Amino acid sequence: MNIYTNCSLLHYNTFGIQVRADMLVEYESVGELKQALALYHERMGEKPLLHIGGGSNLLFLCDFKGMVLHSLVEGYKVVGEEGDDVLVRVGAGMTFDDFVSESLWRGWYGLENLSGIPGQVGASAVQNVGAYGTEVGSLIEKVEGVSLSDGSQHSWKGAECGYAYRQSIFKQELAGQYAITYVTYRLHRTFRPQLEYGGVRQAMAEAGFSEDTLTAMKLRQVILFIRRQKLPDPAVQGNAGSFFMNPVVSKREFDSLCRRFPGIPGYRQGEDAFKVPAAWLIEQCGWKGRRWNDSPAAVHDRQPLVLVNKGGARGTEILHLCEDIQTDVKKKFGIELRHEVNIVAPEGDLDDIDDD
Ligand code: EPU
Repeated sequence: MNIYTNCSLLHYNTFGIQVRADMLVEYESVGELKQALALYHERMGEKPLLHIGGGSNLLFLCDFKGMVLHSLVEGYKVVGEEGDDVLVRVGAGMTFDDFVSESLWRGWYGLENLSGIPGQVGASAVQNVGAYGTEVGSLIEKVEGVSLSDGSQHSWKGAECGYAYRQSIFKQELAGQYAITYVTYRLHRTFRPQLEYGGVRQAMAEAGFSEDTLTAMKLRQVILFIRRQKLPDPAVQGNAGSFFMNPVVSKREFDSLCRRFPGIPGYRQGEDAFKVPAAWLIEQCGWKGRRWNDSPAAVHDRQPLVLVNKGGARGTEILHLCEDIQTDVKKKFGIELRHEVNIVAPEGDLDDIDDD
């Protein structure tokens, strides 16, 4: 177990916001996590506790006056084989893309379209990460966790996790209550490529790959290529991936939007709903590539769903940018944009933030 006091969180958030935590504890096992929780309850009393993954979906607004927990729980173990399926139990601290690549090398498929996603395996199960037509919720068999309040161990079947677009019970009714320790994924021995998402087939053709000879490794290369084209690399420019969720509107609302804004894109979700790309709404409001108030907080110039730190941005500047975008999108389209990134404010209160 590593314990750091008055620790910089610069390398624990991909936005690259320079903030500190009173204490940061990294643990490698369930036993160490329980020790860390005992330490927290003994020493930190009323102060807040925050569990982070790869820090790739976080925005810190100020120093964190409490304990931050970070999982280093590794492990990749086959725990079952059922016909075409392989059940793999993975440590929550494993880097998600290492998990994807390891699985593909072993010839176990299902994760190829999720190549290149930053963050850890534990966070994937909380956020139901998704990209290019695949969401992890459809592959998760079981999630194991430890209660942050009393250290007790719990597990949930995939079907109990309430997975929906960027949602799970761990973001809703159980938010902030558990540290995820292991996730069991159901992978497949048969490769069934998912190529329906816009842009995937075109990128395949550009790479000279035909559908007949496509392998999972080639598809991984295609996905990594698309991501490199569109999304900023957090190692080069601070960001937390999609800052906003794509809003879902009713069919009636979408029809009315189409009349007012011909050409507005929308993707059908079930019978009566349409998902509208937030990127399009933000671009139409003139925010693509723009900075907030000449600060280093800016909208990415190729994917406006992503907010970036051009160097030295404060969390509050990113927050102001987020709020101004939300206001403009609401004014023009009547749509509320919800942020996907977790905003960490003192005691969760955005009004308490001092801008200076
Ligand atoms: N668009 C624009 N202008 C742009 C870019 C995109 O108008 O500059 C519009 C276009 O209509 C385009 C549409 O947005 O067709 C969709 O763009 P894209 O395929 O890039 O996907 P997205 O909906 O913007 C979502 C995920 C991404 C994921 C991609 C691919 C969310 C919140 N985001 O973005 O996830 O990589 O689909 O599946 O659902 C992440 O969560 O960090 C993330 C990057």
